[in-house]
Amino acid sequence: MGLYRTSASIGPDIGAWLCQLARITDATRVFEFGSGYGYSACWFARALPDDGEIVLTEGSSENLERARTYLERLDAADLATFEVGDAVETASQYDGPFEIALLDIEKYQYVNAFEAIRESIPPGGMVIADNTMSAGRDAPDDTVDFEVLLAALTGEIVDIQETELPEETKKHTAGILEYLTHVRESSAFESTLLPLGDGVTVTTRTR
Ligand SMILES: C[S@@+](CC[C@H](N)C(=O)[O-])C[C@H]1O[C@@H](n2cnc3c(N)ncnc32)[C@H](O)[C@@H]1O
Repeated sequence: MGLYRTSASIGPDIGAWLCQLARITDATRVFEFGSGYGYSACWFARALPDDGEIVLTEGSSENLERARTYLERLDAADLATFEVGDAVETASQYDGPFEIALLDIEKYQYVNAFEAIRESIPPGGMVIADNTMSAGRDAPDDTVDFEVLLAALTGEIVDIQETELPEETKKHTAGILEYLTHVRESSAFESTLLPLGDGVTVTTRTR
């Protein structure tokens, strides 16, 4: 196991929907921040053309090896580029365009991930952030508290650090708050938070 913890995949509902989004946007290239063992990549692969590309990034080389195996079973490994290491650093080494980017790493890294990929997203392209309402983790504290997040978004709570939440929950909740505020204030992007799975925020480039 590498530096990063292994955690849950997006699950079938979001998976099927990501596949649809890739079809709707005529995506040819997809960038994933946090690919785990390749579940989300397998859904994207279904929608990509034969000359498409999906860049999988992952801190754990074991996870990526599993991802390769699953993509091979789908006969889609040729579409995949596998990058072991820090996803944000990897993104900064790639040129766009990527019609879709998926953010599925630690929540406090979402703003950095968005900044690393935003110039690579063409008009009509999307940055999709998972876990923006909660996080289906094994450890109960390792999640986002949506009630506190909402209260912070509406100004009812000024400082998440002052709440009674466990430290890990504070960190993830503050990360998502920072991300939602950041994308909302980013010109040329529009965002919607959808209550699908653990909550998905879709941020589309408008121009
Ligand atoms: C929730 S899982 C990804 C699941 C995957 N998107 C799916 O739905 O199949 C998050 C993964 O991100 C990896 N990770 C976390 N932070 C990372 C980082 N900064 N760079 C690369 N990988 C990271 C973890 O090792 C973990 O496997």
